[in-house]
Amino acid sequence: MKLDLAEKKVDTILVLDFGSQYTQLIARRIRELNVFSLILPWDIKSEKIKSLNPKGVILSGGPESVTELNTPRIPEIIFELDIPVLGICYGMQTLAEQFGGQVSSSKKKEFGHAQIQVAQPSLLFDGFALGTFIDVWMSHGDHVSTLPDKFNLIASTSSAPIAAMEHISKPIYALQFHPEVTQTKQGNIVLENFIFKICQCIAQWKMDDLIEQRIEGIKEKVGDQKVLLGLSGGVDSSVTAMLLDKAIGKNLICVFVDNGLLRKNEAEEVENLFKDKMDLNLLVVDAKKAFYRHLQGISDPEQKRKVIGRTFIDIFDNEAAKFKDEINFLAQGTIYPDVIESSESESKEARVIKSHHNVGGLPDDMNMKLVEPLRDLFKDEVRKMGSMLGLPSEMLNRHPFPGPGLGVRILGEITQEKVTTLQNADAIFIEELINANLYDQVSQAFCAYLPVKSVGVVGDERRYADVIAIRAVETVDFMTATWAKLPYDFLAHVSNRIVNESEEVSRVVYDISSKPPATIEWE
Ligand code: XMP
Repeated sequence: MKLDLAEKKVDTILVLDFGSQYTQLIARRIRELNVFSLILPWDIKSEKIKSLNPKGVILSGGPESVTELNTPRIPEIIFELDIPVLGICYGMQTLAEQFGGQVSSSKKKEFGHAQIQVAQPSLLFDGFALGTFIDVWMSHGDHVSTLPDKFNLIASTSSAPIAAMEHISKPIYALQFHPEVTQTKQGNIVLENFIFKICQCIAQWKMDDLIEQRIEGIKEKVGDQKVLLGLSGGVDSSVTAMLLDKAIGKNLICVFVDNGLLRKNEAEEVENLFKDKMDLNLLVVDAKKAFYRHLQGISDPEQKRKVIGRTFIDIFDNEAAKFKDEINFLAQGTIYPDVIESSESESKEARVIKSHHNVGGLPDDMNMKLVEPLRDLFKDEVRKMGSMLGLPSEMLNRHPFPGPGLGVRILGEITQEKVTTLQNADAIFIEELINANLYDQVSQAFCAYLPVKSVGVVGDERRYADVIAIRAVETVDFMTATWAKLPYDFLAHVSNRIVNESEEVSRVVYDISSKPPATIEWE
């Protein structure tokens, strides 16, 4: 495999993966320090490790117990290379075991905050005075109970007396806690000490290199074959499209399904950007009629979601079938949080999928290999990448939009008329948020269409018409959220505009529910 960056002699830190949920986070922290990192499985071939010529190795944590037989061990090549090594959690335990120390299974698992105390001067804790307490995050069952020969204790806690150790003459270090998680507030200092003071890396790696590396990776994987991508207009699939475009140009075929449940002008905007401005091979499928037809008479939220999902799959299938014999690759904008959520945390080569997963349900006889160039990246990294690839900032910083679109924002049966009313109201709300510099201060904002009519008076006329709800929330993770305390004057202005500019609306209400007990969407 060609590793362009290693060939360019950029300092490389190898992260050997023992299966921890935090492995990607270690790689991310190293990227943040502008140093190139590569994650490889712990049982990777020695030649591969040698060919990388790493400046140092970090051994990740992992779910197994070194006290059990046939559990992963550090390959000998790592020690033969005589380069700095940092073991974290499981990485520490297997280091201890392989150097002749003892690891014991604790009666109770330690999970959460702890304080370690620096017990001896060490380059790894450079910057912390002897005896200093450091707040750390622990997540382990086993612990090192006896230090291996030739290792010194460098930090301890009350519950894990051997919380950190170092070899007396070689640059081999180990930590029981996780320096890579944000809960270990000064974890970055420890990682910086390892990367710069111990491995002596030079901070010379940039996001440009990551982009270049991904483009090369795509080229290597797909060669001159065609790739199909379902483009949603969201950040992840848009960045995926741009990377693929740079890698394979016209061999990328993007399919954008207009389901008639998008935001106002969204389909035109996507077409304008990707087809006209960026000259991508974009196929816009106008499926509005099919969606409205299938949704006719359906008001139950769950049933609506199912129908929308099913219709999307049918339409996508139809399009994909047209290229059936021609295309072997399916690209997706999967990012790392999606991988964690669906708890399939292996980040290996393209897996062969047999329909029904991911995109949802390609025909059973269609074996396509997945191309997921963002699979190990975090959202903010994808945004940064998108920005460097020239994706407009309105697109990069857009609030999330649910897959079923306005389908879950129109309560009751969906009709084209209701969609239009909602799109117009929503566009006014969003436009005003942007004008008032409030858009970036809320995490998600939108309008919902309520299934009631109310009496209003406009001019001298009685108006018996629809009710629109305005929703704006603040949240970090979208798991919990609080309703945004938007200024009354602002809300009054938005309400006025919606009622004045839309004859179909007689009343606007503001949703003051937080999550929980409500959810962000209304359905
Ligand atoms: P709730 O309504 O569950 O929404 O509080 C949390 C976040 O998820 C988005 N959401 C979805 N996104 N497909 C998606 O891609 C969906 O079916 C879906 N449902 C909700 C919602 O907009 C919010 O950001």
